[in-house]
Amino acid sequence: MKRMPMMVGNWKMNLGPAASAVLAREIRAGAGEYASVQRVLCPAFPSLAAVSEAVADSGILVGAQNCHAADQGAFTGEVSSVMLRELVSYVIVGHSERRTFSAESDSEVNRKTAAVLEQDLIPIICVGENEAENEAGDTRSVVERQVSAALDGVPSILARKVVMAYEPVWAIGTGRAATAHHAQEVCGEIVRLQLAELYDGELAETVPVLYGGSTKPDNIEGFMEQPDVDGALIGGASLNGSDYCNMVARVA
Ligand code: PGA
Repeated sequence: MKRMPMMVGNWKMNLGPAASAVLAREIRAGAGEYASVQRVLCPAFPSLAAVSEAVADSGILVGAQNCHAADQGAFTGEVSSVMLRELVSYVIVGHSERRTFSAESDSEVNRKTAAVLEQDLIPIICVGENEAENEAGDTRSVVERQVSAALDGVPSILARKVVMAYEPVWAIGTGRAATAHHAQEVCGEIVRLQLAELYDGELAETVPVLYGGSTKPDNIEGFMEQPDVDGALIGGASLNGSDYCNMVARVA
């Protein structure tokens, strides 16, 4: 089963609308032609419209970094998947920074996943163990738990649309990327195997599984050579237009 490679830029809490549009235009110029790679940019909420406009009709798609699980209501400061539907194609769900700083639980991640799918958007579901869990040898149990919880109650007709992202917390923003071998083991032997357990082998082979954590131009090829790693969720390096374009070009 051939899955399309994906390069997702997670800009986190960086760049307002004007600066985001500048970066998006730079990326459009440098990575617009690589249609064989699914390119997705995830700016902060206030910059979504500017980035959508900057990449319109280029094949580069836009994603949000989070959403609330409810459709609407008295949740001051929150943004729903219903609102995002007009602006984006993807929504990152369960990023470790949200699990850590906003105490997002597995069940919250599950509700958000369902809300995103309900709007016909694609959730990019983040899972990954932290450093202590890694050192304790708990990677498998943590990742299996997070994958199962995120997809709890999600029927296979919808689950086949999701994107999974394995992001070991100790590798995010640290410059200490996982080895390609480790990424392959978790993406293939844990995440994909868990999808096969929860659904079936065909679904497990359909769903893209990304790696994230200190990816950059000089290590992206090692990850992409792995049979079960379909792309990357890129933080820091995606804020540098030439690094992001370089990564897309190498993958293409
Ligand atoms: P990083 O971030 O590439 O800066 O490590 C990845 C992420 O948090 O998605």
